[in-house]
Order: sequence, then structure tokens, then C-alpha cells
Amino acid sequence: MIRVLTQADATWAAQQHAALMPNSVFAAFGVGFLRCFYRVFAQSKHAVAYVWEDASKPAAVITATSNRSAFLRGLILRHGPMLAAYAVLGLMHKPCRRLVAQLRHYPRHGGDTPIQAEMIFITVDPCCRGKKVAHRLIEAVLSDYAARRVDRVHVTIERANAGVRRILDGFGFKVVSSFLLADKQNDLLQLNMAERGTTP
Ligand SMILES: CC(C)(COP(=O)(O)OP(=O)(O)OC[C@H]1O[C@@H](n2cnc3c(N)ncnc32)[C@H](O)[C@@H]1OP(=O)(O)O)[C@@H](O)C(=O)NCCC(=O)NCCS
Repeated sequence: MIRVLTQADATWAAQQHAALMPNSVFAAFGVGFLRCFYRVFAQSKHAVAYVWEDASKPAAVITATSNRSAFLRGLILRHGPMLAAYAVLGLMHKPCRRLVAQLRHYPRHGGDTPIQAEMIFITVDPCCRGKKVAHRLIEAVLSDYAARRVDRVHVTIERANAGVRRILDGFGFKVVSSFLLADKQNDLLQLNMAERGTTP
């Protein structure tokens, strides 16, 4: 069953993120930082976020923004001091410093337009993989985008993540640029909603 992400899910979502994507840039700042992020996804009117439940327990989550700059403004206004504290702690570690320095490469534009609607994180508990849960969560976000009249969607993925790439290809996403983040090659993918594929 798919439902909207709530603030009560934030701790679980952060722990699942840290466990399943330990090398992601945001995981480098710790579970507290991630919890704060997931809370804002649950609160913000500029976010779209869903949970998939297995036997009434959360097992998968997807987060996205419908207006990235408005979402980030809200994040900084509500949680700026706490995020800064995590950043200072993180910057004390050398590997973290390198990751933060590379964040400046994170794209602001997709092709020739500024990035606005962006899918950010998706994690599916290993117990529930291979059952099209990720497909359904992505479809739910794209339906929400369609209702909000979003016409272009972006997502950044590690080039080595063949699983998620295959899913996104099925929806019609195409690579528009590449960059280095967390010492790994990343691709920025774009979907024109008019060319959107249906759930396979
Ligand atoms: C990637 C992830 C979200 C997929 O979740 P899922 O619910 O198992 O995905 P689905 O069942 O909807 O689809 C799986 C598809 O990926 C394919 N796939 C999975 N792993 C793959 C791999 N290593 N190489 C190639 N294809 C792969 C499957 O064959 C299937 O394709 P098909 O629909 O054509 O048969 C899940 O594995 C996960 O949480 N990974 C860790 C977090 C992560 O990497 N998130 C993405 C970056 S934000």
C-alpha cells in the first residue's frame, strides 16, 4: 500500500537511508541530518514524498521536490542552525570535507532549463525488492507531478546503479549531463512529462 510520508516516518526513513545508501553524500552527515531532511519532505508543500507499506510496516520511501529552490529555502529557514551544526561536525572529517567540496558540482540546470521538480531519494527494504515497489513509488510521484502541471522532471543517479537506471529508462528518462560527486560518476536524467512511459 502506498501512502504519503509523515513526520513520524522520519526516523525510520533516515535509518533505512543510512543503512542502504551508506556512501551517499547526505548519509556522511549522519542519521540526525537525514532525519531533519525527511521531516522537511513530510512538511513542505514543495515536496512530494510517499511510503510503501508491507504488512502495515513502512518498507520503502521516495522523496522528491516540485520546486527545488522553494523547498531548500524552507529547509534552511526551519533547520538552518541544526544543519550548520551537522555540517561543522562533518567538516571535521577529511573524507566529508572532500564530499562537501564536490557538492558545488551538483547541477542547477538540466539541459537548458533550471532544475525545478527533482526526485531525490528512493530506498526499498531488501525484503521487498524485485516486486515493482520502486516502479509504483516513482509512478505515484509522476502522477502527483502531472496533477501539479509539472512539465519536466530531473533525477541524479550514480552511473554504476544499473537497477535504478533500468527503472528510470522504462519511464522515458534520458541522460542530459554527467558530473563527479562523492568521488563517483553521476548522471543527471531528465523526463519530459509529455513523453512519460507507463508502469511496465
Ligand atoms: C534500486 C531500488 C530502489 C530498486 O527497488 P525495487 O523495488 O527492487 O525495484 P523494482 O522491483 O521496481 O524494479 C527492479 C528492476 O531493476 C532491475 N534491477 C535490479 N537490480 C539490478 C541490477 N543490479 N542490474 C540491473 N538491473 C537491476 C530488475 O531486473 C528490475 O527490472 P525489470 O522491471 O525490467 O525486471 C532498490 O534496489 C534499492 O533500494 N536500492 C538501494 C538504494 C538505491 O540505490 N536507491 C537509488 C538511488 S537514490
